[in-house]
Amino acid sequence: MHKNREIKSFVLRGGRMSLQQRQVLSVFWPKFGISVAENEQLDLAAIFNKTNPKVIFEIGFGNGVTLADMAEKNPEYSFLGVEVYTTGISNLLLLIEEKNLTNIRIIQHDAVAVLRNNIKDHALHKVQIFFPDPWPKLRHRKRRLVNPLFVELLTSKIISGGILHMATDWEDYAIQMLNVVSSNSHFTNSAGLGNFSSDKLGRSETKFERRGARLGHGVWDLVFCLSDR
Ligand SMILES: C[S@@+](CC[C@H](N)C(=O)[O-])C[C@H]1O[C@@H](n2cnc3c(N)ncnc32)[C@H](O)[C@@H]1O
Repeated sequence: MHKNREIKSFVLRGGRMSLQQRQVLSVFWPKFGISVAENEQLDLAAIFNKTNPKVIFEIGFGNGVTLADMAEKNPEYSFLGVEVYTTGISNLLLLIEEKNLTNIRIIQHDAVAVLRNNIKDHALHKVQIFFPDPWPKLRHRKRRLVNPLFVELLTSKIISGGILHMATDWEDYAIQMLNVVSSNSHFTNSAGLGNFSSDKLGRSETKFERRGARLGHGVWDLVFCLSDR
């Protein structure tokens, strides 16, 4: 048995792609998709065709609407979205094309592996994680993305002075995020020790945020800054 097999923060949903999704992927993936191989570090300057791009790395963009909106409003930043969900990827590809965006690229893979294997140290301006899968059942909690090892990995990938922005509509996950990131001495809470952030840093409402609101959930944003390592 493989003892170190990692617990993933997602479960791949099966299901067939529609004809339109297949067409979108075949036409636009070659333009905006980035394939990754293990142990091949990405050249972000070449990918975004910019010297020293300010890269915002979004994990789990879902249907991509919020990511496309942020990229449209912030052309000076380069957005690298990582998602495993093919329908969401196809949706974002369409949005990129419709909005004529040049500052988004997409990776379809486990973002934890991408960070570990493909992103150079201190290459990211910001990491954003909006409404990650909450895994509310006690026996599934080990799947939650935001845990001490993951946060330690982020400290080596974000630039000094860079930002970690997270949001969730699950109060106990919000508290877990707050505790886990606050316990890492490299991060400083931008809202002050023990506080959630009232600043959403230009994040527009996401699909899962709307879903949470319909269920009567609150929303907690967390913004941390990485100090010198
Ligand atoms: C609850 S949804 C939220 C989507 C979107 N951010 C929103 O707020 O509407 C979480 C998303 O994260 C993706 N995800 C979970 N773990 C991931 C990982 N390790 N790498 C890439 N994507 C991941 C899932 O496929 C899912 O689409």
